[in-house]
Amino acid sequence: MNKKEDIKKIKNRIKLLAKLINEHNIHYHQNDKPIISDREFDKLIIENSLLEKKYPNLKLKKGPNANVGGKLKNKFKKIKHKSPMLSLANAFDSKDIEDFDERVKKYLNIELEKKLDYICEPKIDGLSLNLTYRDGVLISAATRGDGLIGEDVTQNILNIKNIPKKLKGKFPNYIEIRGEVFLTKKDFQNINSKLDNKNKFANPRNAAAGSLRQLDVNISKSRPLQFLAHGIGYSSYEFSYFDEYYENLEIWGIKKNKINLKASNMNLIFEFYNSISETRSNLDYDIDGLVIKLNNISNQRRLGNVGKNPRWAIALKFSAEKAQTIIEDIDFQVGRTGSITPVARLQSINLGGVIISNATLHNFDEIKKKNIQIGDKVEIQRAGDVIPQVIKVIKKANKVNKLINPPKKCPICGSKTYKEQNEAVLRCINTYGCYAQKISQIIHFVSKKGLNIDGFGEKQVKQFYYLKFIKDVSDIFILKNLKLKIQNLDGWGELSFNNLINSIENSKNIDLDKFIYSLGIRFIGEVNSAILAKEFKNIQNFILASKKTDVLSNIDGLGPKAIKAIKDFFSYNQNIALLEKLSRHLNINENKIENINNFFNGKNLVFTGSLINISRDEAKYLAKKVGAKILSTVSKTTDYVIIGEKAGSKSKKAKELNINTLTEDEFLKKINS
Ligand code: IVH
Repeated sequence: MNKKEDIKKIKNRIKLLAKLINEHNIHYHQNDKPIISDREFDKLIIENSLLEKKYPNLKLKKGPNANVGGKLKNKFKKIKHKSPMLSLANAFDSKDIEDFDERVKKYLNIELEKKLDYICEPKIDGLSLNLTYRDGVLISAATRGDGLIGEDVTQNILNIKNIPKKLKGKFPNYIEIRGEVFLTKKDFQNINSKLDNKNKFANPRNAAAGSLRQLDVNISKSRPLQFLAHGIGYSSYEFSYFDEYYENLEIWGIKKNKINLKASNMNLIFEFYNSISETRSNLDYDIDGLVIKLNNISNQRRLGNVGKNPRWAIALKFSAEKAQTIIEDIDFQVGRTGSITPVARLQSINLGGVIISNATLHNFDEIKKKNIQIGDKVEIQRAGDVIPQVIKVIKKANKVNKLINPPKKCPICGSKTYKEQNEAVLRCINTYGCYAQKISQIIHFVSKKGLNIDGFGEKQVKQFYYLKFIKDVSDIFILKNLKLKIQNLDGWGELSFNNLINSIENSKNIDLDKFIYSLGIRFIGEVNSAILAKEFKNIQNFILASKKTDVLSNIDGLGPKAIKAIKDFFSYNQNIALLEKLSRHLNINENKIENINNFFNGKNLVFTGSLINISRDEAKYLAKKVGAKILSTVSKTTDYVIIGEKAGSKSKKAKELNINTLTEDEFLKKINS
């Protein structure tokens, strides 16, 4: 056969593959009647991808991968979720879930004896995905990202079997369907067996992430990713109950987990959890707990969320995976806030698919209490994303090794160490001079929840810091002047440099709450940053107020430790100078507060006494949602005091200062109108 005939044959094969893939997609997705097995289907996909790769000029314009184009993207497009994608708070035992149930009831102001239905199902260890359907047609698929904005992986999920491109039956005009993308344990092993050692994935979750977030969508398409739905985002039709939504999912052609339970009794739920925990190794996919969610969706809405965690759901985690190994050495790590943590360097060990060689020893009191030494054989555990930890000594070292004492000086900068009253943690006093702290602060600044600079992580921060390219976070914004220097560094080139500069440019437009979070002030996490952003609206107001204890202590939700940390941070002039420098580089947006047309919008409220119809927490939440500010003490700036039963001194104070008061009923009427 001559070359021409060869080419013709390949061309025909590519054409046939396109036809077959298209037909089988229709059998599967539209008719719901596959006529070949998943494996056979995958074979067609892989064969097609290989041929397209080998003979790019024979690729069909309208072939299975047509909309991708020949060129690789270097970045995912961003997609804003219509409603935020939250994450779950954790529970670890039966007491935690009883407390959860009680919290829910207290918030909803219903008697503790009353029963509420919860839907329970395994927590799959995968990645969350947001599918958007308009008029029943899949218009996008996005990863969680930072919860508000995710990455567009629409092209990557097109081959996932139980994600229909069109919904069946009756469906809302617009709906966000959420669920988990994962790989079975078997498929994970299969994928790994084809990769060389350097590229092997540590566990199915990483393999699923690595398969989904592929700029080369052909790789994603060739991996047998699976999807199970477990949630709902925005929907133009309001479902009343979660199980009602689940019944509809089935009609539309989307799978949910077969393992589930609807129950209201915490004992029953705990039994269900135990039985799943015992049989989890028989499941063909990894799970790491049980998710418990309130069935009533209007109650879910009332409960809302605290920071990124919904109040209406919780993850009851399985106990951590444990293993035994030897401590080879112990050294100290200095964290962002100066905490000095003893870290055990371990003989490497595989713990649930992840190679572990370090574990935290928490603090020096723990070392003493547990009598831990170098050379000891210890038990370690790792749960989910948390840092592995040393639990106890299994066997003492044969010989007596040097004792590990709390260092009097910071192991990094040599400054004095100190311990705060009632705190177990030892700290380096040199908060703004110690380079370990500086590096950790920079890493925090660029991290996902901060400026979210893609491609800028611990490795790059350290590299640039040691080379003196960045001394503090403001230098990040002049890295573009170091083009030649950076391009010539090991691991860098023109493309990666340009990508980095692009990411830095993109990060410059930032909301005030994220900016405050990125400063890494102690005790100022996501929740407190949001509170401060809402309160101060811009960075100048924040700086001005930072010296005024009375202003800070009148902010609802901000505790004394956070207040002290803010004052400490601003008492250091270099921090103020840094903030001013940063505000020149950045475009810091006031957090958008919707202009809500409500009586309480922009008003300062104080609550006192106990409410009858709703809980105090819900009343505050409702008021904040319509743009009111909650203060803890009555002063001249208070607009209204809402007086519940058995109100005390605040009600008196309101009278003295001649401030308007409202009853609970009046408050509810106004807030609902
Ligand atoms: S319900 C928070 N159900 O766990 C929104 N989540 O930290 C309610 N996950 O990112 C989620 N299996 O992707 C729910 N059966 C399940 C789940 C599940 C896994 C993931 C989810 C979310 C994370 C929560």
